[in-house]
Amino acid sequence: MKTRNLTDHFGLEVQGVDLAAPISDDQFAEIATAFDTRSLLLFRGQILTPAQQVAFGERWGVLEHHLLTQFTLPAHPEVFVLTNKNEDGKPVGAHKTGWHWHIDNTYMPRASLGSQLYAREIPPEGGDTLFTSLTTAYDRLPDDLKARIENLEAVHSYKYVYANKYPDRPPLTAEQLARVPDRVHPVVRVHPATGRKVLYVSEQIIKQFVGMSVEESQTLLDELNAYATRDDLIYRHRWRVGDLMFWDNRATMHFAQPYDDVNHVRLMHATRVVTDVFTGEAVADEAAA
Ligand SMILES: [Fe+2]
Repeated sequence: MKTRNLTDHFGLEVQGVDLAAPISDDQFAEIATAFDTRSLLLFRGQILTPAQQVAFGERWGVLEHHLLTQFTLPAHPEVFVLTNKNEDGKPVGAHKTGWHWHIDNTYMPRASLGSQLYAREIPPEGGDTLFTSLTTAYDRLPDDLKARIENLEAVHSYKYVYANKYPDRPPLTAEQLARVPDRVHPVVRVHPATGRKVLYVSEQIIKQFVGMSVEESQTLLDELNAYATRDDLIYRHRWRVGDLMFWDNRATMHFAQPYDDVNHVRLMHATRVVTDVFTGEAVADEAAA
């Protein structure tokens, strides 16, 4: 396996691995180490069926069945479709989603270890994804700010995001709402594999910090987010068809960029590993929910 750094501080392109083929235990261990230490793995030129993408994802744990079931593949409920495509006048995937800085699934009971995103159709321009390292972001915080947030907790709220960021979508059903009660996470977490501290902020998902008003919280969140998304921290990924990006939701945040969705199509298949992010414990009940 050959590799190439995507930036100095995180991200790695992995070459010479065919994800459609079974991966040996030795190769898996090598990829897992790269994932833990570099946070963002890019595999280019992959030709994958949904079943093969699911098989790769399942090497890492149980895969999520997304609560927006209208956007998952009927034969593969683990695959969440992101696209502007319509069939019979109906959208076949989620669109304009993730167009803010966020960590996937922090609002779910066990958040997510990592996400795999596979590019099937790509517009000629636009639609890039920005990534940032929340471990490097933490390391670069000024000491007084580190002290301020050391014991702070944040409320991650899907209901809040959904109502504020996706006003065009139908309201969540009672059953969907029951799956996403607000979640509280520490703002500073320790990555279980590396022992490094992580600035666990997610601009899109955090409603407020515990003990602070929504307005006060927004000021602090803006300040932390500004540190986390400085230009010199960011990796911008220009997608090619056949790219599979696998990112660590314990250590990165990402932001999908808009594109010309009137004249061009973008089609991505996402799978997310459901694991207790900070104990590494995989759980089966999430996927069954
Ligand atoms: Fe996302």
